[in-house]
Amino acid sequence: MKKIVVIGSLNMDLVTQTGQLPRIGETVNGLAFRTVCGGKGANQAYAAARLGGSVAMLGCVGGDVFGEKLLHSLQETGADCSHIQVCEDTESGTASITVCQGDNAIIVVPGANALVSPAYIEAHLPALARVDLILLQLEIPLKTVAYITEYAAGQKIPVMLNPAPAQALPPEIFPRIRYLILNETECSFYTGLPIRTPADAKEGLALLLAKGIGQVVVTLGRQGAVYNHAGSLCHTPARQVKAIDSTAAGDTFTAALAVSLLEGKAMPDAVDFATRASAIVVTRMGAQSSIPSREEL
Ligand code: RIB
Repeated sequence: MKKIVVIGSLNMDLVTQTGQLPRIGETVNGLAFRTVCGGKGANQAYAAARLGGSVAMLGCVGGDVFGEKLLHSLQETGADCSHIQVCEDTESGTASITVCQGDNAIIVVPGANALVSPAYIEAHLPALARVDLILLQLEIPLKTVAYITEYAAGQKIPVMLNPAPAQALPPEIFPRIRYLILNETECSFYTGLPIRTPADAKEGLALLLAKGIGQVVVTLGRQGAVYNHAGSLCHTPARQVKAIDSTAAGDTFTAALAVSLLEGKAMPDAVDFATRASAIVVTRMGAQSSIPSREEL
């Protein structure tokens, strides 16, 4: 089976549900609090493994209880976690997430994720027996992302980048990306265009393709996704569901797309698969706690 290597963050999500957001200096009563395993990298590895992919993850956790739980959660999916480094003197990454009326606001503190260095990648990536696709996000240092894309280009390994959270990238990275998967906010960040509709997304997508990226998928929440395929720009509508928490919907979409493409599916089928997987995620609370299995899908 083809192998996906996810390189990225592992965070413990500290999730507070509230009906009302406090202003600065104000205290409000919340509805519920939970700790849930998350982090964009770990969520994508978790989703890819749950959806039937063969997965290995590279990343770092702290030598704390959160780190133990994050490792355990991912190991349970069958993903290869043997190269994840436990950094004893550092705390694990955390994400303080406030969920209010179906939307969320997140503050990420990188912790051990900041230690995913080019030297760590150099020591571990070539040691993996098989790498058919590298899946990346932007919750590890940018210099490491640049190093990985350069290594992958040299080895002719395709890279799928989910550029979240959006931040300026050195221009040489773009032509090294085979698949760019981003939401409307990120598309707006990288193109300077307002992206509200599928038509806007097609315009943004065309600008991104001009940077030398192979394939681009722009997700638009309840408006579905736009992508390029066989010389055309296409739109797949979203499944209409009752959304209660969008956390990890983008991660699941990206991972599902990767699994489906590696199974040999064409882009329209892979986007459909990813759209169905992420539709389930938004109907549940939390990150890894909301990701469906292949059977369920
Ligand atoms: O994409 C969702 C993830 O973003 C959360 O699990 C949180 O850890 C943040 O990294």
